[in-house]
Amino acid sequence: MAIVDRLYIHFPFCRHLCNYCDFYKKVRVDSSETLGFHKYLENSVEPHNQLLNENGLTMTDMASVFIGGGTPSLWGKEGAEYLDDFFQKLNVKLRKDCEFTVEVNPGSWKEEDLMAWRKLGANRFSLGIQSFNQTFIKHLDRVHSLEDVVDTLKFFNERELNFSVDFMLGLPFSERDNRDVLEELKEVLKYNPNHFSLYILTTKENYVHHNHLPTEEWIEKEYMDVSNFLKQHGYLHYEVSNFAKPGFESTHNLAYWESDSVAAFGPSATGFLSSSRTRYKWRPARAEFEIEILTEKEFKLEQLYMKFRTNRGLNFDDFFSEAERPIIKNLTAEWQKTGLLESVGDGLYRLTSKGYLSMDGLLNQIFARTKSL
Ligand SMILES: C[S@@+](CC[C@H](N)C(=O)[O-])C[C@H]1O[C@@H](n2cnc3c(N)ncnc32)[C@H](O)[C@@H]1O
Ligand code: SF4
Repeated sequence: MAIVDRLYIHFPFCRHLCNYCDFYKKVRVDSSETLGFHKYLENSVEPHNQLLNENGLTMTDMASVFIGGGTPSLWGKEGAEYLDDFFQKLNVKLRKDCEFTVEVNPGSWKEEDLMAWRKLGANRFSLGIQSFNQTFIKHLDRVHSLEDVVDTLKFFNERELNFSVDFMLGLPFSERDNRDVLEELKEVLKYNPNHFSLYILTTKENYVHHNHLPTEEWIEKEYMDVSNFLKQHGYLHYEVSNFAKPGFESTHNLAYWESDSVAAFGPSATGFLSSSRTRYKWRPARAEFEIEILTEKEFKLEQLYMKFRTNRGLNFDDFFSEAERPIIKNLTAEWQKTGLLESVGDGLYRLTSKGYLSMDGLLNQIFARTKSL
């Protein structure tokens, strides 16, 4: 029987909602809501087992677990204890080298909570800081202060914890107020994170600071400055939005980019079963999911998009017909000349940091000239 060894769990509560965030989450008013969430997870086990059975799959010892949200650090000690039980209900254990990530908000954690997660097996904490400047933290309406960020980073260092930092570019007022991202990053680097996720703020039309967003040029400059800076400091730019010290790349996230299977639980969480190209998305209100089965062509297209995101490189021959290969060859030669693409040997190509910025445009150039996908 084929196996699924990666697990995502979505904790859908926060202490307070940031003004830009589009994740599925709500403010937790009282503890009865956590009980409702636990019930939701319990009710998910049976339909999920059935889905796996129908697809000839079984969950085995986990290679990675990712607790995302919302704000999982708010789930706290109770969450760690609950999950210990939930893993048994799912009949899964953690592999000895399991990469186990918990997302942490700098204003929503307690020492005893993080220690309970450690005890359960968490060995990677992903801290949402977004900015190291109090003014920008305030513009985003975050629940914490810069002081809370510093306290959390100090705590991680004292306990020698392995952690990643979420950092955002393209923030409101950044161009007007001349935000200095490198100054901010210099401060963050003092705490020596093993990993950075670097997100460009995406917003909706009615975003409260819609009229104060920076220009494309400003954002591109921020992105290239940060990428160069982190590379100079020993981080690999291993995916469009991710940097790691060698050996600290997130294997869980790499599974998504490799279109591998990842089981998922929690309201609005999405799982994927690679062997049957099945995507399932949990409904928010009830422990039921909607299924989408990708056609072979859709799956291939998705694989191309995903592979283009990482520094592992891709072989265009896997995606295009014999007749189309000369067209691709011309395009890739052009992109190499302009520093957007590089060869990694064995027929594999990958985008450079500059190329990542133009990823969608480059893919569109391919699609305009080919028919395979
Ligand atoms: C679930 S949150 C991380 C944990 C915790 N909820 C927090 O915010 O501290 C995941 C990350 O997604 C990023 N993010 C959220 N909304 C975003 C948006 N609209 N555009 C870009 N990145 C966003 C932030 O960097 C955030 O840290
Ligand atoms: S704390 Fe995190 S999940 Fe919650 S609203 Fe803010 S960015 Fe979104």
